[in-house]
Amino acid sequence: YESLTVAELAKKLHREPSELIKKLFMLGVMATINQDLDKDAIELICADYGVEVEEEVRVDKTDLEVYFEQEEINEEELVERPPVVTIMGHVDHGKTTLLDSIRNTKVTAGEAGGITQHIGAYQVNIDGKKITFLDTPGHAAFTTMRARGAKITDLAIIVVAADDGVMPQTVEAINHAKAAEVPIIVAVNKMDKPSANPDRVMQELTEHGLVPEDWGGDTIFVPISALKGEGIDTLLEMILLIAEVAELKANPDKNAIGTVIEAQLDKGRGSVATLLVQDGTLRIGDPIVVGHAYGRVRAMVNDMGRRVKEAGPATPVEITGINEVPQAGDRFVVFEDEKTARQVGESRAMTAIQANRSEKQRVTLDNLFEQM
Ligand code: GTP
Ligand code: MG
Repeated sequence: YESLTVAELAKKLHREPSELIKKLFMLGVMATINQDLDKDAIELICADYGVEVEEEVRVDKTDLEVYFEQEEINEEELVERPPVVTIMGHVDHGKTTLLDSIRNTKVTAGEAGGITQHIGAYQVNIDGKKITFLDTPGHAAFTTMRARGAKITDLAIIVVAADDGVMPQTVEAINHAKAAEVPIIVAVNKMDKPSANPDRVMQELTEHGLVPEDWGGDTIFVPISALKGEGIDTLLEMILLIAEVAELKANPDKNAIGTVIEAQLDKGRGSVATLLVQDGTLRIGDPIVVGHAYGRVRAMVNDMGRRVKEAGPATPVEITGINEVPQAGDRFVVFEDEKTARQVGESRAMTAIQANRSEKQRVTLDNLFEQM
């Protein structure tokens, strides 16, 4: 259905061609009965009739995805980028404490003057090597992205409290990471506790396919105390080691693409979104589509609360300037011009509204064709 004429589409929809022509006119398209309609026009009309083309739903969820796949990769333009690390694990096993501990010890002195604010993602600098960490909201984005078959994180750290052992959410986290095919590092936390039993943790994780190197497997286990800041350096070293092996690359010399980590409505600033730039460089003034929202990047603030003018690959940054609040896990894409961004944004918003409205009238592409 890359293209259909007005007459063909009218037949599929059991409408008069004249009615479609009228409708198209209202949508700003002058068409004749034998005119070819492109995919967008077909989708617009179907949406207008509350008929949902199944294909359209898939496209609606992932059409920004196209931009992640279609580009030609020019090896020469690629440069090394920081790893993006997600910290996961069971409730109270110490994820937040670990993130705090890493941040407190590793946020570079030069940046320390900035107002530290929580933006759900941050970067640390270890001897000139950066690592990007995603906080718990990042976990939500991670889950959404995984459901859509896309990937935002390069490495998962699974935190397991040594006194508590493997718990349901530990297993869930392992399954997430495995499904996303990201390498796993196990941080055996709370080693300072007298009741800590790391052997038990290793034993239990072996049952889930995570076998420590000492036992002939290939999973890295790092004993830590997030509370006391012990073992953190080793953990960071391991992250950098895995990142090096993975040879993570990106091209900073192109329009940015990436994913929403979190977003909310701010009284003064409007829609505020924390984005993870995954490729390219995001700049102030860039025309952008974020999920179903669009606009121009008005202001950008980094993880230190500092205003910045640009953000390169693997950088988390908070932006304002878009017309709606997107959702964690939504993709974003920068366009050459504002007009295209607005068109894509508006059509995506419309599709989303129609998709909600027409749940009951779902017609698949296949049975549309069968009706011919
Ligand atoms: P949720 O966000 O609720 O899932 O929990 P979390 O995994 O972020 O755990 P959090 O960092 O909030 O830690 C839970 C409790 O464990 C807190 O009281 C921490 O102080 C404590 N804790 C975390 N790490 C350590 C540690 O290394 N040693 C000890 N003794 N306590 C720790
Ligand atoms: Mg927490």
